[in-house]
Amino acid sequence: MTSITRQEFLVKHGLDESRIPGHIAIIMDGNGRWAGKKLWNRLKGHYEGADSVDRITSFCRKAGIKYLTLYAFSTENWNRPGDEVSGLMNLLREFLDKKRSALLDNNIRFNTIGSNDRFPPDILKKIEDLRRDTAANDPVMTLTLALSYGSRPEIVETVRKISAMAVSGTVKIEEIDESLISSNLYTNDIPDPDLIIRTSGELRISNFLLWQIAYSEFYFTDVLWPDFKEDDMVRALKDYAGRERRFGKTTEQIRKKESK
Ligand code: IPE
Ligand code: IPE
Ligand code: MG
Repeated sequence: MTSITRQEFLVKHGLDESRIPGHIAIIMDGNGRWAGKKLWNRLKGHYEGADSVDRITSFCRKAGIKYLTLYAFSTENWNRPGDEVSGLMNLLREFLDKKRSALLDNNIRFNTIGSNDRFPPDILKKIEDLRRDTAANDPVMTLTLALSYGSRPEIVETVRKISAMAVSGTVKIEEIDESLISSNLYTNDIPDPDLIIRTSGELRISNFLLWQIAYSEFYFTDVLWPDFKEDDMVRALKDYAGRERRFGKTTEQIRKKESK
């Protein structure tokens, strides 16, 4: 099989290179309902959802998207029934083992955001190993999994860190600005998302990247995550390509800058 260039890949899907987002973040929702419709166990839906992760990561890699962030498990998801939580932990273990070679072969850096407090030590070790090894492998794309992630706990942790710096005199109060806050969040080494996608028809953010999405574009679809295919991604990207991001300015100001 001959591989095609990024350019050819984008043309094939009718996508304009200049309108491709640098960072896409996805709230992967609807696994449970997908399984429920088939009268299957919810866990089966999570396993199918993991196949969507493969498909969409591969698509984004070919499309030249530099950052893909996937909301996989929220702090609130720890409150789900014990068998679902332990099933998800096993799925994560398998993912970390099985995806290693594909991530290395494709120069994808594996990254995580969230709190490490509640994961079993074997999972933490797998995460650390994969983070380290993929970072050292000339990465061209960063895949971030939000695991045990909540935006409010992230902000609380950041406030504590910066407060400690202020108390110890490492920073002055007047030096606390947006960039200092950004650089002390879990996402310190990734840019803010350009596009947020949520599947399964829910129109909410569920504690995801509250600080980082100040100027992100939103795309909601009724498609359940296990059913989310390349075509759905193309639809989201075409929708994004038609947006005008004004960042508070006027259309005239934006057009003038674009035509320069
Ligand atoms: C998203 O699917 C995956 C996780 C939150 C772990 P859900 O499990 O929330 O699926 P629904 O929303 O119940 O259908
Ligand atoms: C958000 O989905 C978290 C993830 C996709 C991992 P949920 O299904 O947990 O969100 P709510 O509870 O419906 O808001
Ligand atoms: Mg859900």
